[in-house]
Order: sequence, then C-alpha cells, then structure tokens
Amino acid sequence: MKIIMLGAPGAGKGTQAKLIADKYGIPHISTGDIFRANIKNGTALGMEAKSYMDQGLLVPDELTVKILLDRVAQEDCKKGYVLDGFPRTIPQAEVLDQELVKLHDQIDHAIDVDVPDENIIRRMGGRRACVSCGATYHIEYIKPHKEGICDECGQELVLRDDDKPETVGKRLDVYHEQTQPLIDFYDRKGILKTVDGTQDMQDVFDAIVAILEQ
Ligand code: AP5
Ligand code: MG
Repeated sequence: MKIIMLGAPGAGKGTQAKLIADKYGIPHISTGDIFRANIKNGTALGMEAKSYMDQGLLVPDELTVKILLDRVAQEDCKKGYVLDGFPRTIPQAEVLDQELVKLHDQIDHAIDVDVPDENIIRRMGGRRACVSCGATYHIEYIKPHKEGICDECGQELVLRDDDKPETVGKRLDVYHEQTQPLIDFYDRKGILKTVDGTQDMQDVFDAIVAILEQ
C-alpha cells in the first residue's frame, strides 16, 4: 500500500501518517523529519535545508527528490509506505511517478487532509515537537503525559523554528501556490480522497481507514 498525504502545513499530515504507519506496519516517510534530523546532526544537507525552512520556503526539488528516492528504495519500503510532505510540487510528483513506472508500480491513494487557513494558524502556535524523535503534540489538543516531555523518548518538546507566527503565513502562501495544484494532479489520476481535517484526530483517522479499506 503506497499512500501520499496531502494538506497544508499543520493540517495533521504527520499525525495521521504515523497512525497509518502503525496500523498497517509500513514506514512513515516525512521529508520534513529527514531534513530536521540532518539539521540536528549538523550535516551539509541539514545546513542547506535549514536556510530555506527557516524562511518558510521549500527546499529545492533537486535536493528533496534525491533524498526521497534513496529512502523509498530501501528494503523496508517494499511492502509500501506513507509519504508525508512529499511530493510538494508538480515536478516532485512527476519524478516520483516516473520512478514508480520503472518499477511497474504506482501510488494507491492520495489523501488530502483539508483544514482552512484560520484553523492552521491556531494549531501551529500550539504545536510542540520532540527535538529527538520528531513526535508532535499540541498544548491544547494533543498533550503529552508530562508537560514539555516527549511520551515516546523522554526528550524535550520545543516550538519548531518554522512554527513562529511570521513564518507560518509564508508557509501557507507557498502551500497555496506550489503544493495545492497537486490536489488536481491526483484527482485527474482518480486516486484523490479528501477528509475533513478539522475533526477530532481519531475521527480523521477513522475516515482515512474507511477510505483505505473500501
Ligand atoms: P514539514 O515538516 O513537512 O512541515 P509541513 O508540511 O509544513 O507540515 P507540518 O509538519 O507543519 O504539519 P503536519 O500536516 O504534519 O501537521 P501535524 O500532524 O504536525 O516540512 C517542513 C519544511 O521542510 C517545509 O516548510 C519545507 O521547507 C521543507 N520540506 C519538507 N518537505 C519538502 C518537500 N517535499 N519539498 C521541498 N521542501 C520540503 O499537526 C499540526 C499540529 O496540529 C500538531 O500540534 C498536532 O498535534 C495538531 N493536530 C493534528 N491533528 C489535529 C486534529 N485533528 N485536531 C487538533 N489538532 C490536531
Ligand atoms: Mg509534519
């Protein structure tokens, strides 16, 4: 099962992708998480990605595509995967398609988690992310057991640099310009499904499972 999660920054792609990955035993692949891991480890890739991410801009396709293709070529992706934050531009989607065609393969589902911009702005300011494993929480909606500490690995939770209010607006503009056209792209292929991402996290997940199992 190969799944793409679409949706604005903060729509809940990562939250839902993790639940899908756990339920179906497939890897959750987030290009954002890969970049953040590289930033944390001080790699050259991380430094370059950070210069774009901190401004709310997309990392250039050449860098992003290579990382993603290397990742999906790994053994654990043979039985499927859930992509979170990739593709984010039409050229990224086209490269992914071309690679899959070579393997006589294809994406099964593109799921758009639909949330209006007003809700997004509220969510982002309250999000807290683990500095170590990338797990995300929300100070109001999805609280960790112990305030400021990750349930999964016990490390500190922080406000992501790109979740500061001045950057969130830019990320939304970039989303509408460069990423939203992917909704039509996958609709034309007949694999697009939209879920109402303003619902409770569990209700969003139930809606996604209903799509995957219909
Ligand atoms: P990335 O890490 O992908 O960030 P994003 O798309 O901006 O998405 P987010 O991770 O912010 O949101 P999400 O949809 O995963 O929401 P979440 O589940 O956390 O990318 C970061 C940057 O990396 C990009 O800006 C770009 O620079 C670069 N990049 C990455 N991929 C790239 C690519 N392919 N090409 C080029 N550049 C790339 O939820 C948000 C909050 O809401 C959380 O606090 C969560 O707890 C809460 N929440 C979730 N669901 C609900 C719910 N139903 N109700 C209430 N609260 C909820
Ligand atoms: Mg995410």
